[in-house]
Amino acid sequence: MNNTDKTQSIDNAAIAGTSVPDLEIPFESCVRDKNPDPCAIVIVGASGDLTARKIVPALFNLYLNEGLPDPFLVVGCARTKLSNQEFRDKMKNALKTANILDDQKWQDFSESLYYQAIDYGELPSFKALARSLRELDIKHDTGGNRVFYLAIPPSLYKSTAQMLGKAGLSTEGEKKNSWAKIVVEKPFGRDLDTAIDLDRSLHEHFQEHQIFRIDHYLAKETVQNILMFRFANAIFEPIWNRQYIDHVSITAAETLGVEHRAGYYEQAGVLRDMFQNHMMQLLALTAMDPPSLFEADRVRDEKVKVYRTIRPFPTADLKDYLVLGQYGAGTIDGKRVPAYRDEPGINPESLAPTFAMMKVFLDNWRWQGVPFYLTSGKRLAKKLTEIVIQFKEVPHSMFRRTLGEEIAANRLILGIYPDEKISLTFQTKNPGARVCLRSVTMDFHYNQSYTGPVLDAYEKVLLDVMLGDHMLFWRQDGVERCWSFLTPILKECETCKAPSELLIPYESGTWGPNIIRDLTKKR
Ligand code: BG6
Repeated sequence: MNNTDKTQSIDNAAIAGTSVPDLEIPFESCVRDKNPDPCAIVIVGASGDLTARKIVPALFNLYLNEGLPDPFLVVGCARTKLSNQEFRDKMKNALKTANILDDQKWQDFSESLYYQAIDYGELPSFKALARSLRELDIKHDTGGNRVFYLAIPPSLYKSTAQMLGKAGLSTEGEKKNSWAKIVVEKPFGRDLDTAIDLDRSLHEHFQEHQIFRIDHYLAKETVQNILMFRFANAIFEPIWNRQYIDHVSITAAETLGVEHRAGYYEQAGVLRDMFQNHMMQLLALTAMDPPSLFEADRVRDEKVKVYRTIRPFPTADLKDYLVLGQYGAGTIDGKRVPAYRDEPGINPESLAPTFAMMKVFLDNWRWQGVPFYLTSGKRLAKKLTEIVIQFKEVPHSMFRRTLGEEIAANRLILGIYPDEKISLTFQTKNPGARVCLRSVTMDFHYNQSYTGPVLDAYEKVLLDVMLGDHMLFWRQDGVERCWSFLTPILKECETCKAPSELLIPYESGTWGPNIIRDLTKKR
């Protein structure tokens, strides 16, 4: 059916008073976009955890779903000396652990996996990598296109980007239309100055269109859906503002503790680990204005506008805006877990926060006076990621004489994890002779409506890098605006005379420090 036919049938359906048919693209064709150009994916830091837990399983899944280019190459590099076969065996084990190993498909996939040991501080080592890549490009016909995924500690980002550049690996067009891309994981710096410095180093050899700053939250289906929900429906936008919304809560709660990441987490704490990236993205998607077009830079322009409106915290009076906590021992899923300070590798007097709740205001016309409560923490009662839009109460209750009770206000929940859902709470009459109200919900669950393969966040991110689509990646101006907001807070927390007063212990397996209630009381 062509477009005209579709319009015609809609008009007829409307005239006849029947339901309007959906203008939908069949689900199967949504799973994959176009296939990327043949390319080599070079994982720098291939002996690490990220490669085994996320990157290679994501690549293998893409391969199973025919999402990888044909031909493709994966070249792992790290300090550890491994042969190609040893690297392949390691990756096979990783897929086994992830429960996605398919022996037959693995045979084909593994033939495109190579390994080269590298010394991060040595230019000759990167030049040798460049030579090997040239040979492999010819052998596998990957056209000289390359993705460099930095799966290394952030302290190595600057020097590695420099080495890649000096070895000629950032150059594009060496072969006809060949491209080179670099992928950087957060954290992008540890404050405003270091973020600017890192960006300057990346730009010495790579141009902005070559740089991909990952935030895996953006690639979650339910997070991507926020824009569709808000801007592909006419009924929500008119009420998405201070006139109808009382407050917004954005929560990313985890039951996991610091795990094996003591070295990183001690330096980061929850503000750098979760707020400077994931929480800020969720805030922007919830609060932004509609872009004129669903196009990477227009969407990112609108996000940056949100970051520009964040009201700076009065650092002298942080307690009215921010609660920081650190987990103590407790029980999670029936098991005793140790306090943060007793975890392996953690300083027994550590002041790193593992929980934060902040009250943020956006100084613009749409959101003036509406608090956004952002909460994230480790070792909390449940793994839960959601955005709750709490609407205002009815302005006048005509039921007050009969009911003599408050009427609960409407609430819209955008569930990201574990329930991938959208849920609207509203009031209905309880059946019976007496007039009674009851809160009910209208729910949409992704898994009920869609079947078939769904891309995991890392699969989507890798695919978009290969395709050169920046929609789901941070732009540097956004990174810097967020650091401008957070850096003074971090400084105040880290340099104040009694930092331990700002840090409240909480029991693992609870919802964080009790004091968080006070933050929601005062406006
Ligand atoms: C990462 C953080 O970016 O996100 C981790 O570094 C955190 O500390 C993780 O556990 C949470 O991601 P998800 O997808 O499990 O909510």
